[in-house]
Order: sequence, then structure tokens, then C-alpha cells
Amino acid sequence: MGHPTLLRRAEPVADPCAPDIQALVRDMHDTMEAEGGIGIAAPQIGVSRRVIMFHVPEIRDGEDGEMDECAGPLRVLVNPVLTSLSEDQEVDWEGCLSVPGLRGAVPRYVSVRYTGQTPEGETVDICADGFHARVVQHEFDHLEGVLYPQRMTDMRSLVFTAAQDTQEESEL
Ligand code: NI
Repeated sequence: MGHPTLLRRAEPVADPCAPDIQALVRDMHDTMEAEGGIGIAAPQIGVSRRVIMFHVPEIRDGEDGEMDECAGPLRVLVNPVLTSLSEDQEVDWEGCLSVPGLRGAVPRYVSVRYTGQTPEGETVDICADGFHARVVQHEFDHLEGVLYPQRMTDMRSLVFTAAQDTQEESEL
């Protein structure tokens, strides 16, 4: 947090299949895995290009019988475009690899549509809701130079992870 690359709008990618983008995707993946994150954007590794990746959450039965959303398959998006599908928002906890040691309660659109290209040159067009929609909005914000504390409406819920032992750790 505070690095200039994280604060500015990232540059579009001319060719999603170019070798430098393939290398960027590998670097992002290595960093995300090493840091134990479930999502990452290129500006978080100091590269101001419009590339994000995240694990697509899957709904699963939790041990308590409730439905939990867990990290599923990896999705990589070049030049993503994001639109909300309704005005409805919900507040939930987020962490970020670029804001270490902290978590915050962030309002996000419940339902979004995102499009973009894969590094293989395929077009993606997906509607997402819940945690899936939250993850996409968080990563897309990184391309606009926005970190989650800027989206928060109640700064009393910006807390040290160590002070909040009931929340699961999923960095974005
Ligand atoms: Ni983040």
C-alpha cells in the first residue's frame, strides 16, 4: 500500500498471447501461491498492465451444514471489463496481499458481469454473484488504482488480522 503502481490506472494489453504476458501470468501465479492468496492483479507485483487472476469460488457444503464458498479453478483475465447487474450491495470481509496484516468490511455489488480475454486468446463472458463477484470487483479495482480501504464506508471495521481470530484468511 502506497506504492505508485498500486495507485494508478493500469495500461491495456495489446496482445493477450504475447510472450511477455505469458511470463507476467507465471510471475503473478508464483507470487499468489507463495503468499497464499486466492487472487492477484499485475500492479500488485509492480507491473502496470490490465491482467488479473483469481480462483473461481465454488459453493460447497460446510461442516456446519451451511453452504460455504471455497476457492475453485483458476481464472486469468486480460483487459477485463466489469459491470454490475443490479444496484444491490452487501458488506463482507476482505484482505489484500498489498495491505498485509489488515482486514476490512467492504461493500460490493452482489451480482456482476465480466468479460475479457484469456492468455490463450479466448473471450470470457461470465455472470457472477456472491463471493465470486466480490473477488472480481476487488481484483478489477487494482487495475483502477483502488485498494479496498477506499471502498469502505465504516473505517471502524478496518482491523488487524491478529485482533480478529474468527475470520478465515483469504487474501485478494
Ligand atoms: Ni488485493
